[in-house]
Amino acid sequence: MRVLGIETSCDETSAAVVDNGSQIVSNVIASQIDIHAKYGGVVPEVASRRHLELILPVVQEALDRADCVLSGIDCIGVINRPGLIGALIVGAAAAKTIAYGANIPLVAVHHLEAHIYANFLTGADIEFPLICLIVSGGHSDIVHMADHGSYRIMARTRDDAAGEAFDKCARAMGLGYPGGPIIDKLARDGDPGAIHFPRAKVGDTLDFSFSGLKTAVIRYAQSMDAKMRVEDIAAGFQQAVVDVLVDHTFRAAEQTNVKQILIAGGVAANSALQSAMKSRGERLGIAVTAPPPVLCTDNAAMAAGAAYYVYERGESAGLDMDCFASEPLGISRQGA
Ligand code: KG4
Ligand code: ZN
Repeated sequence: MRVLGIETSCDETSAAVVDNGSQIVSNVIASQIDIHAKYGGVVPEVASRRHLELILPVVQEALDRADCVLSGIDCIGVINRPGLIGALIVGAAAAKTIAYGANIPLVAVHHLEAHIYANFLTGADIEFPLICLIVSGGHSDIVHMADHGSYRIMARTRDDAAGEAFDKCARAMGLGYPGGPIIDKLARDGDPGAIHFPRAKVGDTLDFSFSGLKTAVIRYAQSMDAKMRVEDIAAGFQQAVVDVLVDHTFRAAEQTNVKQILIAGGVAANSALQSAMKSRGERLGIAVTAPPPVLCTDNAAMAAGAAYYVYERGESAGLDMDCFASEPLGISRQGA
């Protein structure tokens, strides 16, 4: 089954063609980073307006690169929740219009479900039950999946998301936006043990808390003596985040006796996180799968990949499908 995916939930306008939830035929991502960088973060109204300009050319480009026309598309999958509401509405309106005009079934996809299913585009052999760590600009969740479409949230963040901590620390250090990839690169030349930042515990739960770490890093950066290298601060901060993410994820796997871990979301692109996860997995005999960086950050191939599984389980959206700024995983939102 060939799916056209559409994703506009934040600052990437993206469309993709994916076969059977596993083979990417095309994946076009028009990033707005340059437009928002000067504001130090995404400006929602500016993002919506840019999506409006880009959405149809991006969809056309995805079809052209796939050497395909609409009559060759079996289903359209669009992310309709959660995200910036104006931005989501642009993608949803485009998807509904194309679906109606070309008489193609439509499926609404949850953004986090799409991130998880980016792992199924890697060609890896993935076995259920599994634990997925989803870490992005807005979320830090540990999810247990007994099977496709079955989600039990085992942990979430009590304050900042991991990506938000990367972005805010980078901003405080004057490093630019988005902070994750910049800190990842700088940290490669730093000593992760030079400065010890706090690792927060939330009672005996697996929940995360990154706001104390963020404050500690910002205070440190502001009072930084001239001898301290920004690479060491970046490496120390990143190590604190990675330690907590790895520790909680493997504890979740141990508690549920799971032998497969997935990581997903923009922060899953982090090189230190990917290698720490993989080496712990090798030691413990737990398979760890992670998408390549371009499939970790927002893209429409993940939307198309997830849509295949949503459609296969019998869900499809009506033209009254709505968009939702915030919405937990696991609730169907296809419209009437
Ligand atoms: O999933 P995503 O593209 O958008 C959201 O759904 O939020 O994630 C974006 C987040 C940003 O906070 C960005 O700084 C972070 O992912 N990120 C990274 C890396 N690449 C992107 N964080 C750490 N290391 C990276 N290499
Ligand atoms: Zn995302």
